[in-house]
Amino acid sequence: MSEENKEPVSVEQAQDVADQSVVNPWEVTGIVDYGKLIERFGSTPIDDALIARFEKVTGKPAHIWIRRGLFFSHRDLNEVLDKVEQGKPFYLYTGRGPSSDALHFGHLVPFVFTKYLQDAFNVPLVIQMTDDEKFLWKNITLEDCARYTRENAKDIIAIGFDINKTFIFSNLEYVGTMYPNILRIQKCVTGNQVSGIFGFGGSDNIGKHSFPAIQAAPSFSNSFPHIFGDRVDIPCLIPCAIDQDPYFRMTRDVAPRLGYLKPALVHSKFFPALQGYQTKMSASSTDSAVFLTDTREQIKTKINQAFSGGRDTAELQRQFGANLEVDVPYRYLTFFLEDDEKLKDIGDKYASGKMLTGEVKKILIDLLVDMVQRHQEARAAVTEDIVTAFLTPRKLAF
Ligand code: TYM
Repeated sequence: MSEENKEPVSVEQAQDVADQSVVNPWEVTGIVDYGKLIERFGSTPIDDALIARFEKVTGKPAHIWIRRGLFFSHRDLNEVLDKVEQGKPFYLYTGRGPSSDALHFGHLVPFVFTKYLQDAFNVPLVIQMTDDEKFLWKNITLEDCARYTRENAKDIIAIGFDINKTFIFSNLEYVGTMYPNILRIQKCVTGNQVSGIFGFGGSDNIGKHSFPAIQAAPSFSNSFPHIFGDRVDIPCLIPCAIDQDPYFRMTRDVAPRLGYLKPALVHSKFFPALQGYQTKMSASSTDSAVFLTDTREQIKTKINQAFSGGRDTAELQRQFGANLEVDVPYRYLTFFLEDDEKLKDIGDKYASGKMLTGEVKKILIDLLVDMVQRHQEARAAVTEDIVTAFLTPRKLAF
């Protein structure tokens, strides 16, 4: 079946499969089988041939998250690479729903990867802060949502984005410029379709029903006249975790009807919750998450309580070794320990019983504490003026 015929997939269809997991922007439950998810969502696996092509086009080894299969799925990434080879422009689009003061380690995944893509391709980037979405979905005031936008923007800026190539925008402030595209998109999607894709019911507020058009609009280059003028021929590539895909299935469905290009996507797996590898770290379940504001002591306590694939006693661990598949601390290392050889060495020793759970957790604690310290230092250097500068519509180098 062609990709065209497979989208958009409704919530009902997406759940009607053997593994019974639920994956949507607001809920990830059940054991996620990423292979089946690709089939359900109608995306394409990132295979060795695509990785080789990616390396050829960028002239550099692929990011560890591609090589380790953590960015595992895509839509039309080959088309983006075609553009690069033809010397034609594209831009990156990603976002954050600011619902709390702090980001967690899971949130780093799409942003760190987006920075890598920005550096690798030297392209403009737009980052949508969906303060409106969080107001509609959560019990928080508009004022708090606006404050979280600025606080979260500091964390995002601290990752190292180039101000000359990056525009961060609050929907509350910027929505007017995108409104023509939002209306065009809204006119293409019926209430039944949006309910089918997102599972909204009659008792959901009407803001939720119209919100997907607002997350869709930045996929089209003429939503940013200060960067792209009225051009509609500049494609975008969206890095995100796979939970955001329903928005972009809808976007890809409407794009040709508007004479616009379909956005390309690259999807990551979830950085897992402390309690178990099968679900995602989530800010709304604070127990599940290690935050970028946590102290050494908090990180230590959380990691020491994280779900382990090691055996119950040191003797049993030495005899049988750990189950790496389910071990949350080891999974975290696969995301953030960059040294391939060191990771392999730890994996081999832990799986064979030569290494104990406590040793692996200690390595992880030191790594995360170091990351948090470096992040907090970078964040402290981000002044209110810098935030305002990133949030100001302006020309970008492109
Ligand atoms: P939000 O704030 O829920 O998440 C921000 C980004 O982080 C990803 N993410 C994760 N990635 C890996 N492991 C996790 N445990 C994890 N938790 C969250 C999300 O997939 C997302 O990429 N509606 C969006 C904001 C948004 C957006 C976008 C995101 C607007 N436009 C375009 C991506 C692309 C939201 O609330 O994200």
